Amino acid sequence: MIKFTVLTLFPEMFAPVQESILKRAQANELINIELIDFRDYAVSKHKNVDDVPYGGGAGMVLKPEPLYAAVRDLPSAQGQRRIILLTPQGQVFNQERAKDWSHADELVFLCGHYEGFDERIRYLADEEVSLGDFVLTGGELAAMVMIDAVARLIPGVLGERASSEEDSHSAGLLEYPQYTRPPVFEEMEVPEVLLSGHHARIESWRRKESLRRTFLKRPDLIRNMEFLPDDYPLLEELAKEHPEIKEERLRWEHLKPKPKRNRRK
Ligand code: ADE
Repeated sequence: MIKFTVLTLFPEMFAPVQESILKRAQANELINIELIDFRDYAVSKHKNVDDVPYGGGAGMVLKPEPLYAAVRDLPSAQGQRRIILLTPQGQVFNQERAKDWSHADELVFLCGHYEGFDERIRYLADEEVSLGDFVLTGGELAAMVMIDAVARLIPGVLGERASSEEDSHSAGLLEYPQYTRPPVFEEMEVPEVLLSGHHARIESWRRKESLRRTFLKRPDLIRNMEFLPDDYPLLEELAKEHPEIKEERLRWEHLKPKPKRNRRK
């Protein structure tokens, strides 16, 4: 059981994580999502959570007291708790971070809203994380995306048979193309190898297509990956099929295990 605790001024925004797979995961007690409206911790009579910035300027700034009080009022953690501040200034979220977080016992998301937050709020957090290089109106949508990405890695959440192991990005490569019936649809044919029942050939085809997709669509992902020994012949074939990926080829040439020199007699 992993617990997601969200500190937000807009708990009603979280309808998307109460549906479908995450709804079932909560019913099965594989995950728990708790939403805390930190306006409840506002000190003033009017329950203000924001104020004008010192030094002047446009917009309002989230006050520190309500968030500090809300964090201090969390029940004591059962295991490893990580407090995450959502901000476009944070490290960009990715699959690796989702995997890392999936081993925690509790993830606490602090969602800012308004134009900014008091700098002292940063000290509450163990890490600052961004959904991407763009600015949202608040951290809520980012928190929901991250909860979804982490929850589906918890064993059982995707169901008995499904696995998150083979996903796009999981092995550092994009997923291979998938097909189902019919074998021919509007003159578009399913690749013959997939109908062959030849398991080893299918595996090799899938690996090659994953490599091809990644080279063509996301060459930036290739730069950080380690190839398997069986990849090299596939990479050679791809190099012939796609002269345009020549530049990347230099890199896999460099990584290739050095052939043992033939001793001449
Ligand atoms: N709040 C505003 N923009 C954000 C972003 N890109 N990621 C996370 N939280 C945010």
